[in-house]
Amino acid sequence: MRPQDRSNAVDSNYLERIGQILLPVKQRSYEFMQLAPGHDVLDVGCGPGTDTIPLAQLVGESGHVTGMDSDWQMIELARQRAEQAGVADRISHDMGDATDLNYDDDRFDSCRSERVFQLIPAPERVLAEMVRVTRPGGRVVVADADWTTVSIDLTPMDLETRLRQVFVTRTSLNGESGRQLYRLFKEAGLVEVMYDIVPLSFTSYKMMRYVLNADRAEAAALSDGLVTAEELDTWNKKLQQADEAGTFFAFVTSILVAGVKPGH
Ligand SMILES: C[S@@+](CC[C@H](N)C(=O)[O-])C[C@H]1O[C@@H](n2cnc3c(N)ncnc32)[C@H](O)[C@@H]1O
Repeated sequence: MRPQDRSNAVDSNYLERIGQILLPVKQRSYEFMQLAPGHDVLDVGCGPGTDTIPLAQLVGESGHVTGMDSDWQMIELARQRAEQAGVADRISHDMGDATDLNYDDDRFDSCRSERVFQLIPAPERVLAEMVRVTRPGGRVVVADADWTTVSIDLTPMDLETRLRQVFVTRTSLNGESGRQLYRLFKEAGLVEVMYDIVPLSFTSYKMMRYVLNADRAEAAALSDGLVTAEELDTWNKKLQQADEAGTFFAFVTSILVAGVKPGH
């Protein structure tokens, strides 16, 4: 794949910072993969290698991890980080498209993807590809947020509804991804389907703004005419005051689903 237009790309610094907040989701996804030394595993939409490096440690020296992403800058960064971590000999980072994976059928022992389905209008195509490249008896694991669950104290209900519309449709292409996963796994023919729900809560207004990509969401809400500048200003001041008073509270929910490819 050739380097692409990055006007809509996710920022790698953002991904590295948010990775710390998402550690409980990441840990749970590794557990769901049921990794063992020697496993050959795939991370679809790997970003800057936030997960490929820990995965390489988990599968050990006899294992192998492949990370793939459509953004060449992510791949470059992931390769550098693998070198720095001293695990480059057992990780490959490839450019590619998650809807058309460039790997053989039944190759991987396990395959994961985190916060990628929310960016893809036809996530069932990615899941079908993940199932295809996983061996029979291997595990497929997907984690994603459900942006309809964003809840921020001190937000008037009608404003929250309008802002949610932006989180679901503008700062992601498929912001309802999390809630769809269980159904998609069943429809894809995976068996032993299990799920977990991990809440992420925030008592820091700044951190919440960061995770929600609030600057981008507010700009989209304004340009779509969903909110006025005055409404946003009043709301932000109220939340800032709550933050200073130590009473700020918000949360959003992540969903993880795992399933086994039948046929072994
Ligand atoms: C929100 S980031 C998550 C990255 C990583 N999974 C993590 O948890 O840190 C989404 C990633 O998916 C990648 N992506 C988006 N569409 C893709 C596609 N069609 N094929 C492969 N990667 C894609 C983006 O470039 C980005 O690195």
